[in-house]
Amino acid sequence: MYSLPIFVSTFVKMKKTVIPSFVQHIIPWYLENKRDLPWRNTQDPYSIWISEIILQQTRVQQGMSYYHALLHQFPTVQDLANAPQDQLFRVWQGLGYYSRARNLQLGAQLIASEYQGNFPKSYDEWLQVPGVGPYTAAAVSSFAYDFPKAAVDGNVLRWVSRYLGSKDPIDLPGTKKNIQLLLDDWIQHASPHVFNQASMEFGAILCTPKNPHCAVCPLNEECQSFKNDWVDAIPVKEKKIKTSNLYLYAALVTNQQEQMMLEKRPPQGIWGNLYTLPFLTFDTEVPMEEALAQLNERFPNPNNWKLETPEPIIHLLTHRRMHVYIFSNLLDVMPKNAYKFGSWISKDEAKGLGFPRVFEKFLTHKGHL
Ligand code: ADE
Repeated sequence: MYSLPIFVSTFVKMKKTVIPSFVQHIIPWYLENKRDLPWRNTQDPYSIWISEIILQQTRVQQGMSYYHALLHQFPTVQDLANAPQDQLFRVWQGLGYYSRARNLQLGAQLIASEYQGNFPKSYDEWLQVPGVGPYTAAAVSSFAYDFPKAAVDGNVLRWVSRYLGSKDPIDLPGTKKNIQLLLDDWIQHASPHVFNQASMEFGAILCTPKNPHCAVCPLNEECQSFKNDWVDAIPVKEKKIKTSNLYLYAALVTNQQEQMMLEKRPPQGIWGNLYTLPFLTFDTEVPMEEALAQLNERFPNPNNWKLETPEPIIHLLTHRRMHVYIFSNLLDVMPKNAYKFGSWISKDEAKGLGFPRVFEKFLTHKGHL
């Protein structure tokens, strides 16, 4: 078994004239096989930055239409900086993880003011932009300015670990640091933007998590995992992701005017500034009667709630498994403004608002959006 630190130090000490095999084999493979993606045909930092923020938590196919829609609605960084947040959320609707949208706008405001609309160029400057971590900073600065910093995400950690036959857990900071060091050396032997695109594409297309395409891989002769039959065992992770449960009981309250009661969440938290049905949450499952009793305290109405979701909707977040129950009620007796946390909103108005994905799907399915 090769241990990664030895590999790294060996490679990093190598003379720069030795061209790493990855560069020799994967760049030609990439140039021949790459997907034609719009953000690969530009060096415009604004478009590239937007694409990378979308792709942080969204697949290429799903993200494509949002990429075009965002650039269409906000053609310049100033447009994005000055847009009302609700307008941005409207375009973002369906992508989820709205903190990305909030940070994107904070970033646009920083670039519009501090940089007078000129974009940061270096990796370190991009790291200062809200929502931009080491991976995105490397991706954007290399794609737009050929800045020589390797972009290291889960795909890249996987292929490097397999290639080296390293069983160092990829979720340990030390492992990531070693791989970053190694690739920061290798990237100097190539055009940085091509190197990073090729590295990502290799992880996404050939060295996939399940059933990687080893038979046609241009690196298979040197891949330690392929040689040793470790492909399925690598990468190794130290920790199992711990998820906690959350039980959410929501109220779909409508009135005779076909308006529904919506709350705007406070700015903090994962759903900050988004609209939701009024809800209660618990860390453990509570009897339905208990949840209903609490809903009844909020909405002065007799017990005629209808359970819309006999099976809870399961909504998975990075560290949370959310069990969502939705009760409906037609509250024609409720006086206007009796419920002080929310407002009555018509279907047409609601269509223009940003909702967390779980509510958006439910309300759309029920014809309320
Ligand atoms: N995932 C993250 N960044 C990407 C990019 N630039 N191209 C394809 N997939 C990506």
